[in-house]
Amino acid sequence: MENTVNYNYRHEIKIFDEISLLAESFYQLIFEVVKSKNVGEKASIAFSGGNTPAKIFDYISATHKDDLDWNKINFFWVDERCVPPDHAESNFKMTKEHLLDKVGVNNKNIFRVFGEAQPAIEAKRYSDKIVDNLEIKSGLPSFDLIFLGMGDDGHTASIFPGNNSLFNSEKVCEVASHPVSGQTRITLTGRIINNASIISFLVTGSNKAEKMAEIVLKGETSGYPASLVNPVHGKLIWLLDKEASVKLYI
Ligand code: 6PG
Repeated sequence: MENTVNYNYRHEIKIFDEISLLAESFYQLIFEVVKSKNVGEKASIAFSGGNTPAKIFDYISATHKDDLDWNKINFFWVDERCVPPDHAESNFKMTKEHLLDKVGVNNKNIFRVFGEAQPAIEAKRYSDKIVDNLEIKSGLPSFDLIFLGMGDDGHTASIFPGNNSLFNSEKVCEVASHPVSGQTRITLTGRIINNASIISFLVTGSNKAEKMAEIVLKGETSGYPASLVNPVHGKLIWLLDKEASVKLYI
């Protein structure tokens, strides 16, 4: 069962009883974006990593492998850990194993971040790839769809609390570091995220419930990087499981 509730919050929130229903809703977003493109055009979609996506990608690849021409999508990443592509922590590796290989995406449609490269050099190379391959709106590259996760500290992409300057950077991508592990990351910046046509957060788990409530109730005044996501001309949809939404009913 799904319900869309209005909290007098400026963006749409959908809450799902089952992860399969949440995954189905996310697939429908992908399907609509691909269907909206003209003949010969490809959709540009940026994916996040972490743990939530794997089960969502497994559902989508098992259920919709043949329902979409997956090669009408150019696959990008919202952020990447600076590790080789076969490393256990690589967002590319996770996406490749749970989605790309299963639905048969050709290499030419995969624009991964070279996590094995020198970070500052790679941030520039990847930024140039984005600029060269995306539609430009308001003078900036515009993704058709960006899929974000949110950490239990309110981070999104690889922009962590206390580093909102990275969100507001003038660059397309920045080099970041994880506040606990120190792991170097490459991340899209907020200007690019907010320039997308559709932004969809996928948030699951009770450990996200507190930050979800704060962000919905306080908006940007909460100060969390995830609260700064606010599309300039597109729309923002939060797809939550019940656990992540439990504190929204207060
Ligand atoms: C990453 C992600 C990151 C992720 C959040 C939430 O590289 O880890 O891009 O931003 O979306 O950490 O991760 P979970 O959904 O697994 O909790």
